[in-house]
Amino acid sequence: MTAQLNPRGDVAVLVPAAGAGVRLGPGGPKALRLLGGEPLLVHVVRRVATAPSVHTVVVAAPATEVDAVRQLLTPVAPVLVVAGGAERQASVANALAAVPSGPDIVLVHDAARALTPPALVEAVAAAVRAGHDAVIPVLPVSDTIKRVDAAGVVLTTVDRSALRAVQTPQGFRRGVLAAAHAAAGDPLTDDAGLVEQQGVPVFCVPGSEYALKVTRPFDLTLAEHLLAAGH
Ligand code: CTP
Ligand code: MG
Repeated sequence: MTAQLNPRGDVAVLVPAAGAGVRLGPGGPKALRLLGGEPLLVHVVRRVATAPSVHTVVVAAPATEVDAVRQLLTPVAPVLVVAGGAERQASVANALAAVPSGPDIVLVHDAARALTPPALVEAVAAAVRAGHDAVIPVLPVSDTIKRVDAAGVVLTTVDRSALRAVQTPQGFRRGVLAAAHAAAGDPLTDDAGLVEQQGVPVFCVPGSEYALKVTRPFDLTLAEHLLAAGH
């Protein structure tokens, strides 16, 4: 079985897709929920597979859905499908373990960011290729942010100019991500956090509004509109 996209590509993309989607409400694993009639995971894999640097895609599926996800993705792109874990971090670790020898750059990309443009995949990969060991796409924060106490009383207003909202794909020199996962302690919600704990500098590149994460029903509605508008 071959699961290669571009044999000369230097990028493996890990797609953690094993989450339940609790915040989206009832309806099965989030990655398999429909957006414009197709599962979120199909949208994300189709876009990632279009990025010319991508050699391999590894999807971490819900453990009970591995065969179904393999069948679902076969007509979309050649991908490897492994079982995910109970936490996102475990799902990423399982996918990382399945990357074949070859690609020196590894990107980790949420299945929930279904409309991420392939150009963002390329931009993150290019920044790693240019010498940054860890790269994250970020957006400025537009709301005022306040720190509050447990009773809902404001403690301080945070300086927004120094804050960024972090997206995926997050990109890493392969050995850096592998070392960070090998040393990982308590599960974190992003891979750059693990790398930060290793003391590795993490470089920011401009993110994309279209890389929004489908988390709550509002996000799914927004993504439906964006898809219908041609994104
Ligand atoms: N993920 C995963 N394995 C887990 C948990 C999450 O692969 N055990 C994946 C999700 O499928 C998603 C990405 O990590 O693509 C980001 O997680 P999140 O948006 O939190 O998705 P869910 O965990 O599915 O959602 P919720 O937290 O609302 O249950
Ligand atoms: Mg989650």
